[in-house]
Amino acid sequence: MQISSNISLKMLNTFGIEAQAKHFTEIQSVENIAELLNTMEYKNNAHLILGGGSNLLLTKDVDALVIKNNLKGISIAKETDDTVWVKCAAGEVWHEFVLWCINYNYGGLENLSLIPGCVGASPMQNIGAYGVEIKDTFFELEAIHLETGKQHTFSKSDCEFGYRESIFKHHLKNKFIITSVTFQLSKRPTFHIEYGAIKQELEAMQISALSIKAISQAVINIRSSKLPNPKEIGNAGSFFKNPEVSADTYLKLKQEFPNLVAYPLDNSNYKLAAGWLIEQSGLKGLQIGDAGVHKLQALVLVNYGKATGKEIFDLSTQVLQTVNAKFGVTLEREVNII
Ligand code: FAD
Ligand code: EPU
Repeated sequence: MQISSNISLKMLNTFGIEAQAKHFTEIQSVENIAELLNTMEYKNNAHLILGGGSNLLLTKDVDALVIKNNLKGISIAKETDDTVWVKCAAGEVWHEFVLWCINYNYGGLENLSLIPGCVGASPMQNIGAYGVEIKDTFFELEAIHLETGKQHTFSKSDCEFGYRESIFKHHLKNKFIITSVTFQLSKRPTFHIEYGAIKQELEAMQISALSIKAISQAVINIRSSKLPNPKEIGNAGSFFKNPEVSADTYLKLKQEFPNLVAYPLDNSNYKLAAGWLIEQSGLKGLQIGDAGVHKLQALVLVNYGKATGKEIFDLSTQVLQTVNAKFGVTLEREVNII
């Protein structure tokens, strides 16, 4: 295990922000972690765990030891006639893992196709798309406690999953490095195509027999048509969460803005489409220097080239303030600000 100093993180975050890590190392095995915890670089510095860097905004140089998780391996932990428990190491690329599952016809993750990043980060914010979240198929994860070096297993309820939330973003923030995640998948998949755009896309694809492979392809097509590819334009997906409001607030807003886009939730609250709020605030396509609000998806902030993290952050503040002034709704950043 090698620890380097003053390493550029530009290629390691999907915003493409230039920032230096004071120290940098890559973890290839669980044994590496024990070794790392005994080094002076670990003991004398703060740390930042890095997966694919697709949910981070680096607003300054990282005065810390950056630990890139590169643990690899996929294995079957257990199986029955109907169900399979697949254990995946944290450093595997999420989309490649999803394709691996689809290849064996293990159903449950297909709606989450093409989400960037690594498997180890997927529980951090309970990644979700097209009507599915990982909590729906999550079984357990293994993680190492960074103070004691001890391995812990977290069940689904231990993780306290919510919409773009888990215990690892709050109470246990920076306390554990996730080393593997086990998913409980179905050998006789049920299909989740309730999300309108999927049905439309499947029709356009003229699919005769529905399969998880077809759903995955439909999701890939939809995502590719509206989300900017970080290889071409720097971004971290949705910059803000879709805000949840009470039924009362929703009704008042709906009266004033009849075209408001909102979804009812189980608890009688409503989730508002933040992209709509931002677009209706006149911000879609706004560009300040190289920082911008994406032209096709207003929920995505982008780096057209040389924007700094601070410029993107300042733009996000402008978006927050403008939306709040127009609708009285406070957006919350989804991306981790470093
Ligand atoms: P990173 O950005 O590297 O890290 C994210 C956070 O997790 C950081 O706080 C980091 O310290 C921590 N972390 C990472 N790995 C570990 C580990 N092994 N142990 C402990 N902590 C860890 N997200 C969605 O939910 N749905 C979407 O549809 C979606 N679409 C996206 C589309 C685009 C174009 C982009 C760029 C992003 C999108 N995202 C989406 C956000 C992002 O892909 C996910 O949040 C993803 O899970 C982040 O993975 P990562 O490995 O890149 O994490
Ligand atoms: N909308 C607009 N203008 C815009 C963008 C969106 O009016 O510029 C409205 C449209 O009416 C659209 C609605 O908002 O119907 C919802 O938009 P979309 O279907 O694109 O989804 P989203 O709510 O913007 C969420 C997730 C995405 C996820 C998609 C698909 C959040 C914060 N974002 O986006 O996740 O891929 O749904 O399920 O929940 C991410 O977390 O990084 C991410 C990309």
